[in-house]
Amino acid sequence: MSLPATAKVPFGGDYNPEQWPEPVWDQDYQLFDLARIDLVTLGVFDWALTQPAPDVYDFTLLDRIVARATAEGRRICLATGTGAHPAWLARAHPEVTRTDFEGRRHGFGQRHNSCPSSPVFRRLSAELARRVARRYAANPSIVAWHVGNEYGGACYCPRCAAGFRDWLRRGYGTLEALNAAWYTTFWSHTFTDWEEIEPPSALTEHWRGPDHTAFPGITLDYRRFMSDAMLANYLDEKAAIREASPDVLVTTNFMGMYRPIDYHRWAPHLDFASWDNYPPDDSSPSWMALTHDLMRGLKDGQPFWLMEQTPSHTACRDVNPLKRPGVLRLWSWQAVAHGADAVLFFQLRASRGASEKYHGAVIGHSGRSDTRVFREVAQLGAEFDRLGAATLGARTPARVALLFDWDSWWALEISDGPSRLVRYQQVVLAYHRALWDAGVDIDVVAVTADLSRYDVVVAPALHMVKGDLPQRLAEVAERGGSVLTTFLSGRVDENDNAFLMDVPGPLGRLMGVRVDEWDARGPGFVNPVLLRAGADRVEVAARLLFELVIPEGAEVVGTYQDDFYAGTPAVTRNAFGAGDGWYVGAGLDQEGVSWVVRRVLDRHGLAGPYADVPDLEAAVRVTPGGARLRFLLNHRAEPVEVAACDGGVDLLSGDRIERGQAVRLGPREVLVVREDA
Ligand code: GLA
Ligand code: ZN
Repeated sequence: MSLPATAKVPFGGDYNPEQWPEPVWDQDYQLFDLARIDLVTLGVFDWALTQPAPDVYDFTLLDRIVARATAEGRRICLATGTGAHPAWLARAHPEVTRTDFEGRRHGFGQRHNSCPSSPVFRRLSAELARRVARRYAANPSIVAWHVGNEYGGACYCPRCAAGFRDWLRRGYGTLEALNAAWYTTFWSHTFTDWEEIEPPSALTEHWRGPDHTAFPGITLDYRRFMSDAMLANYLDEKAAIREASPDVLVTTNFMGMYRPIDYHRWAPHLDFASWDNYPPDDSSPSWMALTHDLMRGLKDGQPFWLMEQTPSHTACRDVNPLKRPGVLRLWSWQAVAHGADAVLFFQLRASRGASEKYHGAVIGHSGRSDTRVFREVAQLGAEFDRLGAATLGARTPARVALLFDWDSWWALEISDGPSRLVRYQQVVLAYHRALWDAGVDIDVVAVTADLSRYDVVVAPALHMVKGDLPQRLAEVAERGGSVLTTFLSGRVDENDNAFLMDVPGPLGRLMGVRVDEWDARGPGFVNPVLLRAGADRVEVAARLLFELVIPEGAEVVGTYQDDFYAGTPAVTRNAFGAGDGWYVGAGLDQEGVSWVVRRVLDRHGLAGPYADVPDLEAAVRVTPGGARLRFLLNHRAEPVEVAACDGGVDLLSGDRIERGQAVRLGPREVLVVREDA
């Protein structure tokens, strides 16, 4: 396991003293002391500062910033500064800017704005990383290197087109193989020369935007290529850092469920994962739980860093809600409960100008320490001080895995038919939510992950099935586990070509079903599904997608109640080996999803002790020393009282808790118990 060497959960975040005169720094450090801020992330957008002209590197100011942080005894996460390129670079080498999906070559502006295939960008970004690392590697306060920032987007310039052709040549070897993979006999697309291949954009294969393509195979490959092209940028810088700094760990900040970049392709190249948590709204605990689990799954369960979150509100949304009292603390502890070994904010001091001047910060424009937000940050800082190393390196003992696959996400959402309304994240979220509500610990993992440690594997909307996955899923069931999959799974191979067999393709044997027909309807249309298990019967709503499931050995768990296919199976369970395969052919509402998931969990006795307490989240981590930490998080604005499931010590108060003792959690309150061995 590799994690930055810290003695406690690092607490702090992005800090940009280069935006301020030095007297302000004095005030900053006084306030950092008050809030127990012990880590600063420096220099994320400093390229124009550290390389003000083609042949000039100037570290004067960054030296002062780093020296000050060091003298103040802070840990440092030092960025290479390549998240935005300088204006002079774009002027001198227009090739560094991107060409967008519509084919427009961009001028200088914004950030995350470099063409990943530009040789000048690649050379100069690596050179800057090399110089930064060489200059500061000997500073023991630096505990991590932060490369770039939130890699993302895409470029469609001629250099990227050439890079795409090279990538294809390496992957396919021959044009025959490529033509077969892309199914180019369709619409007279047979390529006879590599140079004929164009990036799939609004000017070529697409209409109505990036999700509508004539050739999903081409679009999928371009997304894979783009993900790899930006990964190459990261690797350029990482290699340059390694020349001077062989041991300090390297990361880049991810964005959770971010569609354009396949983080599973990147994960092996990060020493540890880190991510920026900006949930879509202010009431998303299950969304955040899923995303934390996904980020923890990137490095085989190794803890990650919460690199950014706002202490109060964002600025980039149309409407930016304020975190209610207690929420920044609750969500920070939620991150820790799911595997975060650092809790960091964007940002420590608010910018005075430009687009983020209204983005929340630990220190606002007035520099006060008596604001509610500052007080809440300081309270949390004190808690992490008290906690010390108690949670560091602890892992989640999950018996349940949920498969998450960028290829399936892409393939499903660029597909013409059966329905544009089925969204991958929504389906995954519903199944994760059902597990989360049941209070189980969940690993969200790649389809290539080792499944041998799980009792239950859930694979929602697994549209694309690759490699030996069908075999590995069958093995889970053979040894007594349960595998659950849904509609639109097992449809296509890695090139997005349909399997020449019954739906759900290579998953059919395990599921014991086949599907000949499916129906898609608008959001207002409901076909009820009657779910049955023994005496337990419930009618739930299904929407959007309705597969007419034909059992081939499976028993029927749920049937449609309406339309010409009333009485047809919608949900089935197939005994397989010592375990089973569950198939959910309909877009069940949350109630139905939760009902099915609960049946699966109950077969393995997996539902958590607080499964029936709404909005009380429970999570477990086990420390390297074997101590079991139980986190309880009350997401409600009302108090809740439960019985402690084991005796132990409340790590935040130091109080002793006995097994069965009534514990009361106030609104948005958190409890962390180190349970008795
Ligand atoms: C991202 C970036 C930061 C900042 C925040 C604002 O996560 O990495 O530089 O822009 O968003 O929310
Ligand atoms: Zn480009």
